[in-house]
Amino acid sequence: MSTTPASSEALRTAIVLGGKTGLLGHMLAKTLRGKGWTVHAPSREDVDLFSEAALADYIDRCEPSMVFNTVAYTQVDKAEDEPEEARRVNRGLPATLGQVLRTRPVRCLHISTDFVFNGKHNAPYTVDDTPDPQSVYGRTKLEGERALLERIPEKTIIARTAWLFGPGKKNFVHTILGLCRDRNSLNVVHDQMGSPTYTVDLAAMCAVLAEHDTTGLYHLVNGGQASWCELAAEATALAEMSCVIHAIPSEEYPQKACRPRYSVLDTSRYTETTGLTPRPWIQALRDYIFHDLWNTELISANR
Ligand SMILES: NC(=O)c1ccc[n+]([C@@H]2O[C@H](COP(=O)([O-])OP(=O)(O)OC[C@H]3O[C@@H](n4cnc5c(N)ncnc54)[C@H](OP(=O)(O)O)[C@@H]3O)[C@@H](O)[C@H]2O)c1
Repeated sequence: MSTTPASSEALRTAIVLGGKTGLLGHMLAKTLRGKGWTVHAPSREDVDLFSEAALADYIDRCEPSMVFNTVAYTQVDKAEDEPEEARRVNRGLPATLGQVLRTRPVRCLHISTDFVFNGKHNAPYTVDDTPDPQSVYGRTKLEGERALLERIPEKTIIARTAWLFGPGKKNFVHTILGLCRDRNSLNVVHDQMGSPTYTVDLAAMCAVLAEHDTTGLYHLVNGGQASWCELAAEATALAEMSCVIHAIPSEEYPQKACRPRYSVLDTSRYTETTGLTPRPWIQALRDYIFHDLWNTELISANR
């Protein structure tokens, strides 16, 4: 498989599905524009993503070299009650996209998730590990990966990521800091381990991969690992909040969907392809808190 950079300027027009309102999507659109790409970032009002004809027409009008798909049904617990809707978005859209791109000279980078794994490992999951999702969200996301890989394997990159935080939209870190504003203590799960990931870093990794002539599965996350409790405690400490974070087991915080106990992702294929190593999540968290949140009402009101 070739992994040489594809650098021609003419090849740098992108569609970012989810690029107007998504936590990752809007950051990816911004990052690509910053790197000189022409970016089309439609909202759900701009194009009916579930109509093959409408999607094909939109793609033909934009003439992209690459479509990035960040659209997903991301409400993990609600998906247990709405499996058809979760499947329509998480499998249906990639299937339609794959069908449309089959006959067009356009590559695709599709975002997937650590929830495709069952969480029984105790070492980071590589791209060669066998998925075994335990939730509707995880199953439908895996079906989405396969829908693309079956239709356009020669032009698909699947980028699995995890535990996103970043500016512009609510996320775990933002929620925790909001709760800490109003409380003296919080209980947070300490027996689920994962790979916290900054959307700014993830967007940059996606952009770098898009500029390489490569296909197949990648894991794109920040380095290191954490429990939700560790991530919350680190965030409140950096934000100089006095709220005490108590570690609890998952049994004390029941949730509808089954989550992997351990879903740390191994990024070595990304490093082999690009020569780059994702920085540790803790360094990225500092940037999120000091660059993106420090002067906002969320944190400054407490100082
Ligand atoms: N967040 C995480 O921690 C995390 C972890 C692992 C993997 N991922 C994956 O990363 C990707 C991006 O996640 P995210 O957190 O950035 O998601 P997000 O903020 O929830 O954004 C999802 C995007 O999809 C759009 N969308 C959802 N349903 C739609 C529908 N029926 N029709 C049209 N548009 C629809 C949303 O548009 P509206 O704003 O109009 O609803 C939004 O732009 C997803 O593939 C997700 O599975 C996320």
